[in-house]
Parts: sequence; structure tokens; C-alpha cells
Amino acid sequence: VIDITKLYAQGGVFTYDPGFTSTASCDSTITFIDGNKGELLHRGYPIDQLAAKSHFLEVCFLLLYGHLPTADEIDDFEFRVTRHTMVHEQMTKFYSGFRRDAHPMAIMVGVVGAMSAFYHDSTDISDPWQREVASIRMIAKMPTIAAMAYKYTIGQPFVYPRNDLDYASNFLHMCFSVPAENYEVNPILSRAMDRIFTLHADHEQNASTSTVRLAGSSGANPFACIAAGIACLWGPAHGGANQACLEMLKEIGTVDRIPEFIARAKDKDDPFRLMGFGHRVYKNFDPRAKVMKQSADEVLDLMGIEDNPTLQVAKELEKQALEDPYFTDKKLFPNVDFYSGIILEAMGFPTSMFTPIFALSRTVGWISQWKEMIGDPGQKIGRPRQLYMGETLRDYVDVEDR
Ligand code: ACO
Repeated sequence: VIDITKLYAQGGVFTYDPGFTSTASCDSTITFIDGNKGELLHRGYPIDQLAAKSHFLEVCFLLLYGHLPTADEIDDFEFRVTRHTMVHEQMTKFYSGFRRDAHPMAIMVGVVGAMSAFYHDSTDISDPWQREVASIRMIAKMPTIAAMAYKYTIGQPFVYPRNDLDYASNFLHMCFSVPAENYEVNPILSRAMDRIFTLHADHEQNASTSTVRLAGSSGANPFACIAAGIACLWGPAHGGANQACLEMLKEIGTVDRIPEFIARAKDKDDPFRLMGFGHRVYKNFDPRAKVMKQSADEVLDLMGIEDNPTLQVAKELEKQALEDPYFTDKKLFPNVDFYSGIILEAMGFPTSMFTPIFALSRTVGWISQWKEMIGDPGQKIGRPRQLYMGETLRDYVDVEDR
């Protein structure tokens, strides 16, 4: 590792690294990934252990404060999060400004950005107490904001949070309850939901987290920074891949069409890629995908849709791709988005909600990384350089002489 900032100060060393494939923009103690081994650790704890033994709010505590909470600490944390699940009533009016057919991610970018207009007492980033309140507010309100976006786009009334439910069950309640019916949250679905949140909680300096850090490095308030992260997450090369993946599986439709799509993914003249395959850092199986695959089987078992054609296509596509040297030589393995969409669809979510669910899960990662950055006394504004390839100096030409 070369600390280029010191070399730069000594006389001007310049690196060119489009896409930041080998440039660290910060140091961090939150998340570690060994892409070759397929290892993901949060504060040192492996993701598969956290997915099996922990739960999302405990993982939130771990990411934010650096250690596993004691029983009293987690009780207190859950209490603090639960107290903030409601959104300012005025915000409900904000939703009605959107078209009903708006993508829920479009609504979320707007609503989360607007939070800085509603919660003035947690926008002063120089005050550690305000930073803490902003973090708790973001974690607490994101499920409410995402569920409201969903309800708005399907034309149903908003469902208020229920603070007697756990985090995942409350989200399912806000999405699927309707006033005229009793909705009972199934504990297996709630557990699967919690696991999806846990598996997406943080992933070091991915594009959206880097966006949050870059926005925050200028001193922007945390709600504005998270809105920037949501915008970045939306793209199909990042968080939008879960929606794109399920749409691709449906487009393939039947297993006999898989070879045609694999051939397209290999054809360099065709922009088509297998969605849910490949990762910038993992050059081995994504450890989150392993857990997600297990969870998909459990949920499909429960819902009695083992014969789901989408899952059949997914399983066969994975098999054929992993037998193909194009994918194995390039180390293109299924990533977390490959299976998450199948679970979410089985739960009853439309594809447009997949990325908002990713956004609400990743909020804790964004806010933990933002807090780490703001708390670092050596923090500088993020300001990448460029390799200029344009015209050299030339004189202005008057319009009549051009
Ligand atoms: N299907 C077919 N070929 C692929 C795929 C794919 N899904 N992914 C990469 N490749 C090929 C590229 O064409 C390239 O081939 P070449 O060396 O012959 O030119 C090679 O593999 C390397 O690909 P890059 O695009 O250079 O790799 P990069 O690290 O920049 O991209 C990315 C990673 C964006 C995830 C890419 O693999 C991709 O587009 N995957 C599909 C989208 C996806 O699933 N995104 C989710 C990411 S995980 C997340 O955000 C939670």
C-alpha cells in the first residue's frame, strides 16, 4: 500500500485509476472484504454467523458502535429506534405531489432529501448529539418511508408503524396490512426479511457508500448525503441489479431459453450481461449469496411454490453459467442480488420495491460510514483529479470568423 497523499505533497505524484479499481479513498474499521476468499466481516464478525445468529438491529448496533451490544444496550437501542419510526405528519403531503406511477426509488430520493427540511434539530454535523439523533432517525424511518412509497404507488392508504413489532415484521405490516383486514406477519417471512436487511447492511466502499462519503465530505447534512446514496444505489450495475435480475429471469421464462441468454452475455457486440452475476471485489462466491440461496429455498417451501418457474430458471442458469469457462475464467459468480429478488417476489413485493428494500437495509452502512468519516479529525473534502484529454490552449474566435 502506497500512501500517495504524502508523495503528492512532496512533489506531485499523480495516479490514474478510473472506477477506483485499486485506490482506497479512506481508512475504515467497519467492514472487511477478502474478495478472493469470498469473506465478509463486519467489525470482525463473519456475515454468515451474523445472518444465522444475530438480527438486523443488533447488526446495526455493531456497525454503528463497533461491538456486539450487551442485553441492556440492545434493549436501549431498540427502544430508541422504535421511538422514531413515525415520520412527520406533514411528510405525508409530500408524497401526494408524486405521480402514482412514480418509481418508489424516485419517491425515496425526494422524501429522504426532504427530511433535512423536517428535522432541523439533527442537521448540525458539528454536534455529536445531532449526528447520533440523525443516525437513529434514518434507521428508524427508512422502513416507514419505503413502505409509504409502496402504498402510495398502489393507491392504498398509508399504514402507520406498530412499535410492538420487531423491525422486519413492522416493515411487512406497513407494506401488506390493509385497514379492512387483519394481517398477521408470518414469523418465517419476518426472519427472511430480517436476513435480507442483515445481508445488505454494509459493504465497505461500494458506489453508493462512496457517494455518501463524498457528499458528506463537503459538510452536507446527513439526510442530503443519504439521499445521494439512494440515487447512486438505483443504477442497475449496483442496487438496481436485483430488479434487473428478476426481470431478466422472467424474460428468459423457461430453462430451454437459457443457452440463448448465456450466449448473448458472452457476445462482446451485445451489451446484455447476466444480471446478478459478477462483482467488483468478489472473485469467488459472494458469501451473502450463499445465505440468500438457503433463505430462498425456505421461503419458497413455505409459500408452496417450489415449482416457481422463475426459481427453476435461476437454479439452472446458475448451474449452466458455473459450468461455462467464460464465467469461471472471469470469476463471475452469482452475487447477493441473484437470489434476493426471488425471495422478495415470493413475499409479494413487486420488482419496483426490490431496490428500495436494498436502500433501507444499506442505510445503516451509509450512516455508519458517514459518522466514521465526520468523526475523523484528518477528514478532507473528497476531490478526485482527472486526466485531461481535451484541446490545449487556443484563442477565442469571433462568431463571424468561425
Ligand atoms: N455477464 C457477462 N459478462 C460479465 C458480467 C456479467 N454479469 N460481469 C462482468 N462481465 C465480464 C465483462 O464483460 C468483462 O469482460 P472482458 O474482460 O472480456 O471485457 C469482465 O467480465 C470484467 O467485467 P467488468 O465490467 O470490467 O467488471 P467490474 O468489476 O467493472 O463490474 C459489475 C462489476 C458491475 C458488478 C459487473 O460484473 C456487472 O455488470 N454485473 C451485472 C450487474 C450486477 O449484478 N450488479 C450487482 C453488483 S452487486 C451489488 O451491487 C450488490
